[in-house]
Amino acid sequence: MSNQRRPLIAGNWKMNGLAAAAATELKALVAEAKNHSAPNCDILICPPATLVREMAAVTSDSAVEIGGQDCHGNESGAHTGDISAEMLKDAGASYCIVGHSERRADHDESNATVKAKAEAAHRGGLIAIVCVGETLAEREADKTLEVISDQVKNSLPSGATAANTVIAYEPVWAIGTGKTSTPDDVAAVHAHIRKELGSLLDDSDKMRILYGGSVKGSNAEELMAVENVDGALVGGASLKAVDFWPIVATSI
Ligand code: PGA
Repeated sequence: MSNQRRPLIAGNWKMNGLAAAAATELKALVAEAKNHSAPNCDILICPPATLVREMAAVTSDSAVEIGGQDCHGNESGAHTGDISAEMLKDAGASYCIVGHSERRADHDESNATVKAKAEAAHRGGLIAIVCVGETLAEREADKTLEVISDQVKNSLPSGATAANTVIAYEPVWAIGTGKTSTPDDVAAVHAHIRKELGSLLDDSDKMRILYGGSVKGSNAEELMAVENVDGALVGGASLKAVDFWPIVATSI
């Protein structure tokens, strides 16, 4: 963690959450956050699109922010089932995840698509969280850094700055599996991303790089202490306030 970068602890609820139970969990999180008048980190929950407006109302007078999990590249139009960054913003979101490995895999999203979505997020007034990460096969073939370089270079939106873009490094094999990268491996990849950003941006030192993949209360402290780790993107452990708060507490 670094003094010049404010940590971001982000929860990604994925395709989980019905209104009543989701509101109960989020209210519990908001209550925890309210015990800290000036938190030292940003706190974000990305619920499914159906809940963005309702969850934004729950968090409205708190430090917890709301984000989308994906957006289309266009502002509006004939794209059945998609939603735009402008719609997310209108519903109360301030961030949008793009290029999550589940979307890269389930929806064949290429780096070019992810880049267009991140640019759409900016156009709509949202901070883009651009996800990158290698598969197990790529790691075993010693291709991790090469894959990450390619994803960072080609998914980063034009006009990216530390204020409008966050990178999330999530090794695909660590997502939802209970396996996490070792602190040394995380440090090596995050340092590599920082170096890549240096060749692409003016304010690369200020851009936040999150780690994601089976982050939980029991490993968060160790992972958040790694150099160039500026927060976490949390899936399973973000669904319940009692699991998510201890992760936030490592950085607050
Ligand atoms: P996980 O998911 O914490 O359940 O591994 C992380 C993510 O996919 O963002």
